[in-house]
Amino acid sequence: EPKVRALVAGNWKMNGLRAGIAEAEAVGRALNETPAGADVMICPPATLLGPMVAALGDSTVHVGGQDCHVNVSGAFTGDVSAEMLADAGATAVIVGHSERRSLHGELDRDVRAKAEAAHRAGLSAIVCVGETAGERAAALTQTVVSRQLAGSLPDGARAANTVVAYEPVWAIGTGLTPTVEDVAKVHAAIRKALVARFGAEGQGMRILYGGSVKPQNARELMAVPDVNGALVGGASLKAADFLGIIAAYQ
Ligand code: G3P
Repeated sequence: EPKVRALVAGNWKMNGLRAGIAEAEAVGRALNETPAGADVMICPPATLLGPMVAALGDSTVHVGGQDCHVNVSGAFTGDVSAEMLADAGATAVIVGHSERRSLHGELDRDVRAKAEAAHRAGLSAIVCVGETAGERAAALTQTVVSRQLAGSLPDGARAANTVVAYEPVWAIGTGLTPTVEDVAKVHAAIRKALVARFGAEGQGMRILYGGSVKPQNARELMAVPDVNGALVGGASLKAADFLGIIAAYQ
């Protein structure tokens, strides 16, 4: 397994007001003192992108969006384009999170178009995949994940602009996580599919695990082969918790 630099990304979801930027600032300050062995990113609500970029100053913490529209601009009330995220200082955007898939009806082809929009805007796309509890119970995990992967990644995806996040839906916000053996199986299958489709670029793409990552389980998860980082929800909202997870990547 060639070494790829890990990425620890925080997905704030629809949490955080301007006062909450203090948490991001605290992360930035801590990483100025003790640099992380991983890239670190926070994906706040779109309203906080600009203020957060300003607050982070010259810290090493990257900022990303949580979703984007496929168009550059136009009559799409309420939407935000990848170009706008980039303009606000984002370097990446999450696409196809299970909450977008389930609550906004996004299909693989929509996610793929959003990943293409991200690339067009010069952003990295963090493309999420993962099975539901029902699919897992029916032993469909590998089937679902490989279908989502095939349908959601654009042909031009490269190691430098594409990250895959495996988030079992039943593990999100529940405190439940798969066993390290199960995580290893799925990540190995994802790597195999990436290499089959993208060759050396697929070898270099980062595969994050997401779903109830905490300071307490971050170390054992990051030790799993082909786990190249974490996509963190709840535990990314507090600097102390997020730094506890980042510390697993030294
Ligand atoms: O995108 C990350 C997220 O879905 C995981 O959430 O709260 O289980 O860490 P959480």
